[in-house]
Amino acid sequence: MAHDFLTNSKIIAAYKEKTPLSAECAKEAKEHFPSGLTHDSRHLRPYGLYVDKAKGSRKWDVDGNEYVDFFGGHGALLLGHNHPVVTAAVHEQIDKGTHYGAGHRLEIKWGSLVKDLIACAEEVRFLSSGTEANLMALRLARAHTGREKLLRFKGHYHGWQDHVAFGVSNHFDGSPTPGVLNGIAENVVMAPPDDIDETKRIIESHDDIAAVIIEPTGSAFGKTPVTGKFLSGLREITKKLGIVLIFDEVVSGFRAAPGGAQQVHNVIPDLTSLAKIVAGGLPGGAICGSTELLDQLDFDVAEAKGFEKIGHQGTFNANPLSASAGVAMLQKVRDESPTQDAIDTARSIRSKVNKVFVEEDIRWACYGQFSELHFFTNPENLALDPENFEFMKRKCDFFKSDQEVTTKFRLALMVNGIDINGKLAGKVSAVHSEADADRTADAVRGAIDMMRSEGALRH
Ligand SMILES: Cc1ncc(COP(=O)(O)O)c(C=O)c1O
Repeated sequence: MAHDFLTNSKIIAAYKEKTPLSAECAKEAKEHFPSGLTHDSRHLRPYGLYVDKAKGSRKWDVDGNEYVDFFGGHGALLLGHNHPVVTAAVHEQIDKGTHYGAGHRLEIKWGSLVKDLIACAEEVRFLSSGTEANLMALRLARAHTGREKLLRFKGHYHGWQDHVAFGVSNHFDGSPTPGVLNGIAENVVMAPPDDIDETKRIIESHDDIAAVIIEPTGSAFGKTPVTGKFLSGLREITKKLGIVLIFDEVVSGFRAAPGGAQQVHNVIPDLTSLAKIVAGGLPGGAICGSTELLDQLDFDVAEAKGFEKIGHQGTFNANPLSASAGVAMLQKVRDESPTQDAIDTARSIRSKVNKVFVEEDIRWACYGQFSELHFFTNPENLALDPENFEFMKRKCDFFKSDQEVTTKFRLALMVNGIDINGKLAGKVSAVHSEADADRTADAVRGAIDMMRSEGALRH
């Protein structure tokens, strides 16, 4: 059986013993939801945590256990949970109404903050999620170029809509996943990440590419990083051939730098998709970019220039609650240093964790460039120096993972009071502290002990 490792495991027994009320919730949820879940990323065997409350860098499950939280609202919580400034802004707004069916001053402020921070943003349109932002980016690109195809990179995630629902964790040959039309998949071209010569060759062998979309830090916020040189190469070829370059900065926006990965690498795309941090931890997204592209949504420009405007609705676009949180968040990003604070703390956590790996004599690494933690469990037992681990140079296979090691390490971390995501990755916020870093290192040591004592470390 594929999940035999779930039986006779002390780690799983310890997790179950610690989380009986989460187990009950999971059982009840299965009566309502497929797999009992409302988001695939929360899938975990034997079951995931049910959380009751959160504050700062911590959250508490329904059994009252405390965790240092690195799930971070799927990356949205740059200021941690319930930051008092964001909470106050939302409280103030909720008393004034949650939806006006009309424009409001907060959306104007929100849009101007996006423009202050994101270099490519000459104009902005708010939507409700990152998936929607990328869908709109693609439509803008197709309408602008009159071409049909989208070029994407293997392993890069851009939401769950049809054009991007394959080639992320499976179907790398570009074939459609269930429910996706062949006709859509045929209009998507897959390229290898961080290989500019091959990407250029693929682009040049098509004459109908409307857009290239990329996570500009590499997939999953740098799990498989891309280089600035690769991004410049992409900028050059797309400009030359009139292809719209889209940076999906849904995660990296305001996190890699206040101005996103485009600021870090000084490579400015035509369009940028935003979500998560942009809406301050509430639902929301934005597409921003050149006036020429965004003007395709403009009634007056379309009339004056005689083209058919692109339609765009969305009940919750720029809703006042998300706008209030987004404004509070982006003002802090612009005027203070939460982005850098989170990056600094993440570096310290990685360093402390790597020291544990060295002391425990296991060839694992905790790596990352910005405010992220990526745990590499080294399925092939390659020799490595965890402090100077360069994933792409190692030519590691990102998609190779050992389900038993991944599941048990994650559960063992939970038993030791740390929550990371199913890719063994975490996002660090501006309010994570050195105490959180120490606690994380201790938890990693505790988790390794548990793994070792039941023979779950492969090497
Ligand atoms: C890089 C990237 N793009 C797009 C999305 C989709 O955003 P949403 O979940 O808001 O639809 C995500 C979500 O995790 C993401 O990480």
